[in-house]
Order: sequence, then C-alpha cells, then structure tokens
Amino acid sequence: MSHTELIRALPKAELHVHIEGTFEPELMFEIAQRNQIDIPYKSVEEVRQAYNFHNLQSFLDIYYAGANVLIHEEDFYDLAWAYFKKCAEDHVVHTEIFFDPQTHTDRGIAFETVLNGLQRACNDAKTKLGISSYLIMCFLRHLSEEAALKTLEQALPYKNQIIAVGLDSSEVGHPPAKFTRVFAKAREAGFLVVAHAGEEGPPEYVWEALDLLKVNRIDHGVRSEEDPVLMQRLIQEKMPLTVCPLSNLKLCVVDDMQQHNIHRLLQQGVKVTVNSDDPSYFGGYMNDNFFAIQKALNLSEAELKQLAINSFEAAFIDNTEKQSWIKKIQAL
Ligand code: ADE
Ligand code: ZN
Repeated sequence: MSHTELIRALPKAELHVHIEGTFEPELMFEIAQRNQIDIPYKSVEEVRQAYNFHNLQSFLDIYYAGANVLIHEEDFYDLAWAYFKKCAEDHVVHTEIFFDPQTHTDRGIAFETVLNGLQRACNDAKTKLGISSYLIMCFLRHLSEEAALKTLEQALPYKNQIIAVGLDSSEVGHPPAKFTRVFAKAREAGFLVVAHAGEEGPPEYVWEALDLLKVNRIDHGVRSEEDPVLMQRLIQEKMPLTVCPLSNLKLCVVDDMQQHNIHRLLQQGVKVTVNSDDPSYFGGYMNDNFFAIQKALNLSEAELKQLAINSFEAAFIDNTEKQSWIKKIQAL
C-alpha cells in the first residue's frame, strides 16, 4: 500500500475542528440568499481570494463575518451535515467538534437554535454515516470572563449534549489565566476541558492551560517546543496536542511545511494528533493535512499509523471503543 492509500485507509478521529470554520463559500452563498443577507462578495472565487491571511487575527475577522449568515436551526444543521460528509470521504470515524456559541448569541440567535441544529446533524451522522461525535463549546477569549460565565450558565441545561468546554479566538494578550474561574466551574459541573494554547502565544500559555485550567488536551501547542522543561512535562503526562498543520501554514505560524515540528514532536514522544482546524479557510480537511505533512516531512508508515492511534487515544470516547479502532489500525 502506498502512503497515500494508507492515509485514506486509516480510521481517524478529528479532535480539533471549528464547525464555523468548515463553512464552504458555496454553502455560505446559499444560506445568505435564503436568509436574505448581503455578503460583501460577488462570487465564490471572490470569497476564496479574500482568504489571504497573514496571522490569526486576519483570519478571525473573516471567519466571524462569514458566521453572520447563520440564523436558523436549519443553517446550523446544514453546516454540520456538510462537514460530516467530508468526514465520511476521509474515513474520519469519530469527531469532537468545537462550536462558538457567543459568535451567535451576541447576534441575537438563541443558544438552543445553535445546539439543536448541530445535535440533529450529529444524530444523523451516527445513523446515516456511522460517524460518532461529541460537541465542545468554546469560550471566545477576546471577550470577558464574565461573558464566558454567562455562556457556561446557558449551557448547563444542555450538559448531556456537550462533552467539554474549550477556549479559542485571539490568543496573544488573552492568556488562559483570564479564564481560571470559569474553567473551575465547568470542571465542577462535569465538563472535560481543553484550550487553545501555544499556537501564536508563548509556552507560558501552555503552562497556564495545564496548571490553571487543568486541561485534558492542548489545542495546537506547537510553541511548546521552545521550552524543554514543558516538553518533558507533556511527554511524561502523555498530554495530547491537537496539531493543525495546514492551519499553521496558512496563518504563518510556520513559513513552510518542511519547517513544521509535528514530526520532531512525534519522534520525541509527544502525543500529537493531526487535525484540520478550519478546513474551508485553510485549504483542506483531515486527509489533506496528512498528505501535506507526509509530502513535506516524509513520515514512515509506522509514524502515520501512530498519528491515527494517537487520535483515538486522545479522544473522549471510552476505552473499549479506543482499543477497537487501534486494533483496526494495527491490522492495516
Ligand atoms: N477559532 C477558529 N480557529 C481558531 C484558531 N486556529 N485559533 C484560535 N481560535 C480559532
Ligand atoms: Zn482551532
């Protein structure tokens, strides 16, 4: 089997994908039209041309603007259903999906509208495509901790539909420490916790995510490599990093894919996983991310398998399910 065939054949879990970041321009136009909302682009090509980012903020500005056309439960359903179809094509058999409720509730959309649309797509993904999924609710870190606390309160009645809380949006200047209390409350309420850290922000933010937020996984975390003591901690604690190679390239976290550290992190024993982050904006879904690192970093068959195994080990599914997928990978 060639490396390409192996990548396609591997069952994979996706642990870092923002549902608002899977919004393809074609669907954006369709939903804008039916909701009678003007968008500042004339064509799909013009939208894609605007995807010319130089850092995280330049991306986020466009990403939040795109989300403005999502109004009805059906819109959130269509968005998530389109992503699940991509999962099926890429043999992603389990996914843990971020959503940003504040992006929608701040525009007057009910929390319930967002959650019901996403949940219905998750249910259909299981019955029609055999794909399992969890939802992870992210707090926008450029907003206040008080706003995050309000969002947590809104989520409590839906606790059984949300596996974890996370932290995303503009990293630099908004350290994990800002959200210590809301994460403590979330953990007390029984949510698992994750946080974006060490994408653009320094290794200190990864330390804070571990020590103050007490996360179960770090999202991105690629800048951890700058701190050897932190590296030892991640390795010893088997702390998963949900790495997003095409995202890092598109947002200039790395200059070219040959410079990406995912291979070095893997070789040093860090539990790294491969993920798409915002695939509609960054040029590819799960398999595209695998193809890009394979081409640039020349990973071996065993390393490709290890990345897929890591994705299940780091997932929030039960141990029996993990072992059953891992066995399938080893048998390939
Ligand atoms: N929201 C969506 N994608 C993000 C990323 N890569 N970093 C921080 N916040 C995000
Ligand atoms: Zn992300």
